[in-house]
Amino acid sequence: MSEDPREKIIICRCNDVTQKDIEDLIDQGITDIEEIKRLTRIGMGPCQGRTCLPLVVGIIARKTGKKIEEIQLPATRVPIRPVSMGVLTGGDDDEE
Ligand code: FES
Repeated sequence: MSEDPREKIIICRCNDVTQKDIEDLIDQGITDIEEIKRLTRIGMGPCQGRTCLPLVVGIIARKTGKKIEEIQLPATRVPIRPVSMGVLTGGDDDEE
């Protein structure tokens, strides 16, 4: 049995999501990028989607016939309040 070559094309390297993963979801009727994000975690890696989100938008446009401008990017969610690097590394939050 031959392997689908789309399984070797990594779209989201942070979360190891392939072109086949994305196209299979679109073939199932899931064309909303927010839903694809929730199902695959694209855009949630360390690069925050700088690499994968434009690629996924392109795939959605190609497979659905939509224009790229018609596809809305996922909402960006910022932290409620700034978090210091010390807290992220397990240090003390009282820096003042
Ligand atoms: S490549 Fe997808 S979140 Fe980094």
